[in-house]
This record gives sequence, C-alpha cells and structure tokens, in this order.
Amino acid sequence: MNNKKVGIIGVGNVGSTLAFTLASKNKCSQILLKDIRENIVQAMALDISQSANAAKSNTIVKACIKDEEFKDCDVVVITAGIARRPGMSRDDLLLTNAKIMTQVIQSAITFNPNAIIIVVSNPLDAMVYTALKAANYPRNKIIGMAGILDSARMSHFILEKLGYDAGQIEASVMGGHGDDMVPLPNFSTVAGVPLSEVLETDDINDIVEKTKNGGAQIVKLLETGSAYYAPAYATSLMVEAILEDKKEVYPCAVRLEGEYGYEDIVSGVPVMLGKDGVEKVIELHLNDSQKEEFSKSIASVKELVDTLENKFFK
Ligand code: LMR
Repeated sequence: MNNKKVGIIGVGNVGSTLAFTLASKNKCSQILLKDIRENIVQAMALDISQSANAAKSNTIVKACIKDEEFKDCDVVVITAGIARRPGMSRDDLLLTNAKIMTQVIQSAITFNPNAIIIVVSNPLDAMVYTALKAANYPRNKIIGMAGILDSARMSHFILEKLGYDAGQIEASVMGGHGDDMVPLPNFSTVAGVPLSEVLETDDINDIVEKTKNGGAQIVKLLETGSAYYAPAYATSLMVEAILEDKKEVYPCAVRLEGEYGYEDIVSGVPVMLGKDGVEKVIELHLNDSQKEEFSKSIASVKELVDTLENKFFK
C-alpha cells in the first residue's frame, strides 16, 4: 500500500463519487474530504470509508472540518462550486464559481504546498485560469479535467454507432470543454483505423454534436444537477497518473505558454501527466479547419477571462 494522500474539496455528487472510486481502487492510503456542509462531509467520509472495507481496500477516508486538518496531500481535487440547471450554460456559473474558487484555493495551497491541484468546477477553462491566478502557481501544478470526459463521451457515441469493444476505441478531442471542444477525428481510431475511414462524415458530425451536448443532455434530464459518474471516473484517471507517476498522455486544461501559438490562456491540449503534474504539453499537427476551431474555442475562453479581469479581479 502506498502512502499517498488525496484531498477532495466539495463532496457533492462528483466529489463523493471520485472519493468512492479512488477508495475502492485502493489507490491511496488516505482521502481527505472538505465541504462547508459539516454533517454531509462526515457522513460521506464514514460511508465511503466503509465501502472501501467492503472492497478490501486499505484507504481511509476522513472528514476535515477545520482548514488546517486538510493538509499534506499529494493531489488536491477541487469540485467546489455550483452546478448548472437546465437552460443554463456553464458560462453562467462564472462569477459565482470564481468567488468560491478563490476562497478554497487559498487554504488548499497554504496547507498542501506540494500538492498538484486538479480543477473540476465549471466553467472549466476559466476556473483553471482563476485558480492559477489566485494561487500564483506555475502551470504544471494546476490542471483542469475536461478532455478525458469529452473523449469518454465521444467514445461512448462511437461505440453506440459501431458496436466495437470499448478497449478498441480511442477518441481524441482538445480545446474548451463541451460546446467549445475541438474534435480530432483524424487522431481518433477504432481498432487502430482512423475514424474518418470507418465512418461517413455525417456520422462523425452527428457524434461530435452529441458529444458537445453530452453534459447538457444529462443536466436536462436530472433537472437539479449535472453528470457525475463520468466526470468522477475521468478525474480518477488523472489522480492515478499523478500519484503513480505514470507519464500518461491525456487531454487536460492547462495554461498555454506559446504552444499552438497562444499565451496566457487556458485550453484543453494533450499533456503528459506524472508526479510533477503537467510534465509536457504535446503539440499536435492540426489541419486548417482544426486550427480555426481551436482559435474559436480560445476566443470564447478569452471572453470569460476578460469578464473575470474586468469584474472579478479588479
Ligand atoms: C459535464 O460536462 O458533465 C460537466 O461539465 C457538467 C455540466 O454542467 O454539464
């Protein structure tokens, strides 16, 4: 059993499902949970710890009430913030969640100075920007989870269409989360064959639209919240890659520092994840239409960043 500690801030549906997933996989010795709802966080810690025992996992889950109890984590995941309701876009959450993000990041970094931080709150790319700015951290230490989720959704719709074994489907996306993602069918494969050779353009376009709308589809059905199983599982893959220094390549939201021709803006790109967080940003050779879609995606994050700079950070 390793001696790793993971902290999760916000134990709503995503945070608690993530804790449950990591605990049942026996991936760390401790999981610390933090939430402003004291009874809920204690209940979750007990319930998830007991589920770990049922899974014969040694992971212990603890509730932290005071800021200083939530300390010395190797990885901290921030899911805190409100979720959208039907009819809302993720961007509608911008100013509310920016306020929550700046509050929680301060105590997270004070008591967990060595932790790699994964942001899950929406609007994702703008929340990574907010966290980086509030913490004044290098970009390798604060990373956003979205691309793995969007790729998983795209794989799901490919599987639904083609009926292949899930292990044979590799879907690639980059750019912003959801509506702003840039699909990469030429980097996506089914049994090693590029998607563009297996499916007609109309079918690919249909899959892309379904993927972009994947989060909203679930929000509409749930009425009072958003998806959590897929977001939590996707986050668990990032946590594992960092804890186990896997050097795994995943699409993640990071601050671009010249890559793809952009500076000081956050977007989803393929990165290598290891013990130091983002260890490498991979630059794919995009075709002209992908470059154009990526620039639109960047422009929409830039709009949110401008709002943050004018209305929040001033
Ligand atoms: C998702 O895509 O499931 C999340 O970003 C939550 C949402 O608001 O859709």
